[in-house]
Amino acid sequence: AIDIAPLRDKSGYITLDYGFKNTGSTKSAITFLDGEEGILRYRGYPIEQLAEKSSFLEVAYLLIYGELPSQAELDQFTNTIKSHTLVHEDIRKILDGFPANAHPMGVLSSLVCSLTAFYPESITDRSKEQVDLNIVRLLAKMPTFAAWAFKNSMGHPVNYPKNKLDYCSNFLHMMFSLPVEGYEVDPVVSDALNKLLILHADHEQNCSTSTVRVVGSSKASLYSSVSAGINALWGPLHGGANQEVIEQLDAIKADGGNTQKWVEKAKDKNSGFRLMGFGHRVYKNFDPRAKIIKGACDQILNKLGVNDPVLNIAKELEEAALNDPYFIERKLYPNVDFYSGIIYRALGIPTDMFTVMFALGRLPGWIAQWKEMNEQKEPISRPRQIYVGATLRDYVDVTKR
Ligand code: ACO
Repeated sequence: AIDIAPLRDKSGYITLDYGFKNTGSTKSAITFLDGEEGILRYRGYPIEQLAEKSSFLEVAYLLIYGELPSQAELDQFTNTIKSHTLVHEDIRKILDGFPANAHPMGVLSSLVCSLTAFYPESITDRSKEQVDLNIVRLLAKMPTFAAWAFKNSMGHPVNYPKNKLDYCSNFLHMMFSLPVEGYEVDPVVSDALNKLLILHADHEQNCSTSTVRVVGSSKASLYSSVSAGINALWGPLHGGANQEVIEQLDAIKADGGNTQKWVEKAKDKNSGFRLMGFGHRVYKNFDPRAKIIKGACDQILNKLGVNDPVLNIAKELEEAALNDPYFIERKLYPNVDFYSGIIYRALGIPTDMFTVMFALGRLPGWIAQWKEMNEQKEPISRPRQIYVGATLRDYVDVTKR
């Protein structure tokens, strides 16, 4: 609900809209989302077609530069990214300073922000050439950071990028190759990852993307803005939900698998408990990404020969919730995070890396939105407030309080 309240300083009327539920912050040409109809398009292209036919780097190019690339443009983009996958050796020293139990999202945001120190020109030089260089560097180095954060948590030596591999396969190599045993990237795993990254690549003005735009509106650099976006994504009500979904499904399984009991718990407002992976600020119908992921889930687990009992629990939970008046009235459907964790686990990705995977996918969207905001020369983001604190009072000496 919107509340209109007069400002005490007589500067006019402001809208009070907690959580910006009805407030548009910008005009954008990147992503179209119709929450009532369950439609999602990147630059006009339906998400279903992109997930089926495209590659993650092609989608990244589309989001950032506005059009699908020609073959020559795509080759050049891909090769430039490949030439930047290595990271400065001193960044490894920063990584070495993190304890093994550091959450990889904290490590990732720190390493992304550290790029401002290694490329100080990225802070001040706003020329097109420099911005393009910042963009390819970030796309190239994020998978390296993400895989290295995982290796650090395992106490394993890091793997350097293999540039003959495609984007997703290179990431899998850096995650899973061990010095003692080689690792052959399974194309089923690499294709599944490609699809998941595409599905996460942009979602208009969500919490992390708005954060990137707000931080960038002060003319902060791309690296510091994206680092802030990673932190916003981390929270359990946003990207962090994918980790919590699988933990919740495991807990339901350990509790005997009675899904109805957990639906009842979620309806009890005093429980402070929510069904993670259900509900969305904009979708009041099925999240189209969840539909695609649910379909892919059966297919990928079958192809990999993985039998994960939580997949059945997830399906039963969905069935129980979708037939419950509480969920029907509030239009709470499974969102993108509900089934993604089951696929990540089947691909061998550990639970606390799930939100990092989301960040890898969302990166092109953050970049595109940061770039658009700068090109549109938007003013600094600076919301107003309605002051409800003490009225004027005199200072009292500490001895008299
Ligand atoms: N379980 C139980 N009840 C829920 C849930 C849920 N998952 N989600 C919303 N509700 C209820 C709320 O309690 C509220 O009920 P009320 O009207 O009786 O007070 C009503 O549905 C509306 O919920 P809000 O929190 O007001 O909706 P909002 O748009 O602010 O929040 C959000 C959306 C954060 C996604 C919410 O649905 C939620 O917390 N879901 C679980 C976390 C999750 O899956 N997050 C991932 C979102 S997708 C993404 O970021 C990629």
